[in-house]
Amino acid sequence: MLEVLNDADYELFRKVIYDESGITFSATNRSILDSRIKDLLRTKNIATPAEYYALIRKNPEEMKYMLDSVTTNLTRFFRNQPHFDAFVNYVIPHIIEQKKASLTDRTIKIWSAGCSTGEEPYTIAMIMKEIIPPGWNFQITASDISLKCLMTAQTGFYADSRVDGVPANYLAKYFTKVDGGYQIKKEVQDTIRFDYHNLKNDSGARNLDVVFCRNVLIYFDEPAQLAVIDRFWNAMAPKSYLFIGHSESLFGMKTQFEFLKTEWACLYKKEISK
Ligand SMILES: C[S@@+](CC[C@H](N)C(=O)[O-])C[C@H]1O[C@@H](n2cnc3c(N)ncnc32)[C@H](O)[C@@H]1O
Repeated sequence: MLEVLNDADYELFRKVIYDESGITFSATNRSILDSRIKDLLRTKNIATPAEYYALIRKNPEEMKYMLDSVTTNLTRFFRNQPHFDAFVNYVIPHIIEQKKASLTDRTIKIWSAGCSTGEEPYTIAMIMKEIIPPGWNFQITASDISLKCLMTAQTGFYADSRVDGVPANYLAKYFTKVDGGYQIKKEVQDTIRFDYHNLKNDSGARNLDVVFCRNVLIYFDEPAQLAVIDRFWNAMAPKSYLFIGHSESLFGMKTQFEFLKTEWACLYKKEISK
């Protein structure tokens, strides 16, 4: 395939994408970046990568659009069920115990960071609606750098093929069958706040009980991963839990998180003893 980016163009785009988002392109996935920039040039009717580079440099909206276009957004409902088993059987009971003991609030705060088209936060919301004890509340924030994905997430409509992983009882209870697919019910949507957020920046969130950041760090190199992990640490409550993708690991990285192996799945724990 004819490459659109020469070495100098490639280096410019690789660097700006990394600096702006942490997403790391290397020699092995250079062809992916090449084909995405080629698509952008065609859509925008721009002749050369250099012209497009000048445009993103002077127009922050175009920069956002370009970053959105180079993301990988693959996701599905109930992705990696063992994580949700650990969430239901270990994480939530432990959080409830802690909060009861400290007589603090009765709200469980959850962040789905890199939520793509919404399947992950909706899965969490449906599960929470099933298991939350009376007198308790939960809040979910779901964020992504892709505005296109966030728009789909906010709409809450999924084509028939996209709800494959949803258990029949959840599908019946939390979705409405509509032409060509399923619409998530408002009672579930109302539990989630969707937000544009670039993980390169501090979200400003504090005291979160659970963070899901699954299948996102895999696109970053180690320094960028570490920076994101440090920001999670600051955003999380003194006793709280972090899920990353099952093919991702903090092994060998200098973080303060503790590795936690439960009967169901492995995750990470923040624990600051008072
Ligand atoms: C493969 S999807 C994972 C979706 C979901 N967490 C899951 O595991 O199914 C990765 C998502 O991370 C988002 N992402 C990549 N870099 C990001 C950044 N710097 N800030 C926020 N989101 C980012 C992408 O836009 C994409 O939607």
